[in-house]
Amino acid sequence: MKELEDRIRQEGVILSDTVLKVDSFLNHQVDTELALSIGREFGRLFADRGITKVLTIEASGIQFAMAAGIALKVPFVYAKKKKAVTLAEQVYSASVHSFTRQETYQVSLSRNYLGPNDRVLIVDDFLATGAALVGLVQIVREAGAELAGVGCVIEKGFQEGRRLLEDMGVHVHSLARISSMAPGEIHFVDNDAP
Ligand code: G4P
Ligand code: NA
Ligand code: NA
Repeated sequence: MKELEDRIRQEGVILSDTVLKVDSFLNHQVDTELALSIGREFGRLFADRGITKVLTIEASGIQFAMAAGIALKVPFVYAKKKKAVTLAEQVYSASVHSFTRQETYQVSLSRNYLGPNDRVLIVDDFLATGAALVGLVQIVREAGAELAGVGCVIEKGFQEGRRLLEDMGVHVHSLARISSMAPGEIHFVDNDAP
């Protein structure tokens, strides 16, 4: 998605060979027009796939899941990182190991909002190690729902997330795929390439 790649080049701050900050327009302050464009792009990519629900994880996937839900005219739901005690028995859950934070946490989603009749598009801001997304895929499977695919705003193609998801048989589509980066330098994969 050219508009997104241009914005990353202009405003992204590359902190190291692996960490990209996009706080000024995606992750902390959110450019609402850009978020809606991102949603429309997911809508275009996953049109005619019979999507009934968009699923993400709090916090920074929410604005893109909402935008995709608007484009596809379906609800979105987000998995929570803190377990509400009152929900104990009525949730799907998965444990996620965050490599960047070196901690394992539970993600959960009420059983009321996902089930066997759903066809799901998972959306998130970053595809890095893929840990959180694998957790969401597990939740979709636990719900007996069908997974249409995963849409990520930014993929760091040099990390293992895509391979992990594809090994699970999941179709992944990212709007900006970074092949490599270093402070002051960023390269994207041609998104039309297979
Ligand atoms: P992931 O690939 O499944 O997201 O897992 P990972 O453990 O690698 O990433 C941990 C957190 O760091 C995730 O946010 C992820 O979105 C974020 N992240 C990974 N790489 C980058 C990066 O280069 N830049 C930025 N800005 N974030 C990155 P999270 O823990 O789910 O938190 P939240 O921000 O969504 O609340
Ligand atoms: Na995230
Ligand atoms: Na994040």
